Amino acid sequence: MSAILDGNRLVLGTCYYPEHWPERLWREDIERMLSTGIEVIRIAEFAWNKTEPEEGVFTYDFFDRFLDLCDELGLKVIFGTPTATPPAWLTERYPEVLNVDVDGLQFQHGARRHYNYNAPVYRYLTERIVTKLAEHYAPRKCIIGWQIDNELNCETDEFHSEADSAAFRLFLKDKYGTLEALNRAWGTVFWNQTYTSWEQVHVPRKTISNSTNPHEVLDYTRFVSSSARSFCKLQSDIIRKYLKPGDFITTNGMFASLDNHQMTDESLDFYTYDSYPNFAYCLDAWRSTDTMADRRWSRNLTEVRSICPVFGIMEQQSGANGWNTRMEAPTPRPGQLTLWTMQSIAHGADFVSYFRWRTATMGTEIYWHGILDYSGRENRRIAEVRAVREKLAKLDKVAGARYAAEVALVKDYDNEWDARLDKWHGRVAWQSEQAIFNAAQRTHTPLDYVYLDHTSLDALKGYKVLFCPHLSIMTGEKAELLEAYVRAGGTVVFGCRTAYKDVTGQCVMDKLPGVVAPLTAADIPEYSFIAPDAGTVTVDWGGDTLEAAVFADLVEPTEGGVREGVYTADYYAGAGALVSHQVGEGKAYYYGTAFTESAARTFLEKLGVAEPCAEALELPEGVELTVRKNERGAFAFVLNYLKTPVTIGVKKPCVDLLTGETLSGDCALAGYGVMVLAL
Ligand code: GAL
Repeated sequence: MSAILDGNRLVLGTCYYPEHWPERLWREDIERMLSTGIEVIRIAEFAWNKTEPEEGVFTYDFFDRFLDLCDELGLKVIFGTPTATPPAWLTERYPEVLNVDVDGLQFQHGARRHYNYNAPVYRYLTERIVTKLAEHYAPRKCIIGWQIDNELNCETDEFHSEADSAAFRLFLKDKYGTLEALNRAWGTVFWNQTYTSWEQVHVPRKTISNSTNPHEVLDYTRFVSSSARSFCKLQSDIIRKYLKPGDFITTNGMFASLDNHQMTDESLDFYTYDSYPNFAYCLDAWRSTDTMADRRWSRNLTEVRSICPVFGIMEQQSGANGWNTRMEAPTPRPGQLTLWTMQSIAHGADFVSYFRWRTATMGTEIYWHGILDYSGRENRRIAEVRAVREKLAKLDKVAGARYAAEVALVKDYDNEWDARLDKWHGRVAWQSEQAIFNAAQRTHTPLDYVYLDHTSLDALKGYKVLFCPHLSIMTGEKAELLEAYVRAGGTVVFGCRTAYKDVTGQCVMDKLPGVVAPLTAADIPEYSFIAPDAGTVTVDWGGDTLEAAVFADLVEPTEGGVREGVYTADYYAGAGALVSHQVGEGKAYYYGTAFTESAARTFLEKLGVAEPCAEALELPEGVELTVRKNERGAFAFVLNYLKTPVTIGVKKPCVDLLTGETLSGDCALAGYGVMVLAL
């Protein structure tokens, strides 16, 4: 059984860089971590030079000396492979491993992820260093697991080197077989882009007006994902040969253009995430219109949960943000370190490791503060970590528990990626995802994300309502899966622009909504963006007024469908805006616009899924509610993101596990305070 995520306890860790500190500090640091309640450290992820200072020369003594101490003192270690920062000797000798930007300019040594995943020599050198490290260090007692690379696709998810073009061609040959098929899928007849030889095909390059073929960019994004995944698998296949029983392989994320679900399935034992909610308070982000601030990280954690229901946090915010060049943000206020730790746990983390133990005194990250400042003196943050440890000791029962939600927002990678490259798609996607998330948060309705290509009918049946806001790219199989879910009693709510594209990203010539027309009994004879001068366009749904957003599909019922709502303004006043269709035991809705927060809230309320804990708890909007359940019980996390105290109405007496007190009636929750209630 793994030393973390064992289903019995919540475990704390930190990130440590033995190479940043004089060796005489190691023992004192380790002893102090252990006395603080930190049991695990992650090391070595940027330290290639310490084990291969020259090409082909391997030296193990540096980490051996450090790991001897860990073995002696009983600190557990996650060892990182160093491939995010190839050494200077490597990039100097093999410049083809360097990444190139879209203008054709090569990135140089000095930062990180300056490499590409596809240069054969980089893959060879990666294979060699990972083999050497795994062979040498994996048998050690203190090692409990491995982290592959660091944050795949962080810093950049765009790769334009020659090695990438060569690998892209292979990817496309494998996918399409012939150039004719590629030309069809990419619609190259448009603007005379037709390829007559594979050598003419490249990763996207600089074009006039930066308007690259969208079908090519969609395939390119799939290619970047596949490259990152295969780079991860290359490493995990090696490490797995040397892994001690019970030890694990993970990597930390979560970044764009990467199918994290598939990567986890094929290469990892579980997924870990790096959570930095203090980004919400960056000095250059004050104008943000996002009203969720640090609560927005719950959305990222919801994504992480969809990959791995019980997961780890490899890097949890413990101090101020800041590279010397960007991202400056204040020190977390008293209580926020605890709040953000609990936010992670509330969503399914059973392991939380703080970034980092000591703040770096050199390099780009001198302002990215850890638990300790430069001097290592006792401070408020280490005191808070000690207090967190005491709190976690009271939450053993929560370990292994799954987040419980009756509502999910349905996604898939094709649509995620298409929405990024396609403005029409992106505008509605961003609007609705944010609105549905915010509505669920403010009505205390636990919400999951479900990736349609990584789920099953049985998993879907666990939800009462699925929101599918804008699955523009839709396939017959996905439509069938959703139909089977509805037949079995589920409710699906589609938003505008559903199913107008196929998997190549080309628009279908069917009447819209394409392959979901039979399920929704809907027909869309006309559609438009809501014009900027249209004023407020609303939808009247049986007396409830919903504000339409961004787009209007004029949607009318076909046989069996019911016209539930109409637009109230502009030239389409009186045209259909919402159609429902009873299918089997369930119902499908087609809502012709994008969701605002209040519209999403109306759906949650009318469909009877808002506030599932309303009988037990009365909660103000400023707090988040999550529920984790296992055979030991149901645990409600109540998290106050406000700096001021709030009142929680406890309608059925229950115990706060953190204090042991039985709560009932109006109870005060401090600013940044957390309750964990046994329901
Ligand atoms: C993370 C990264 C760390 C460190 C931290 C602060 O994204 O994994 O290595 O850079 O951010 O910038």
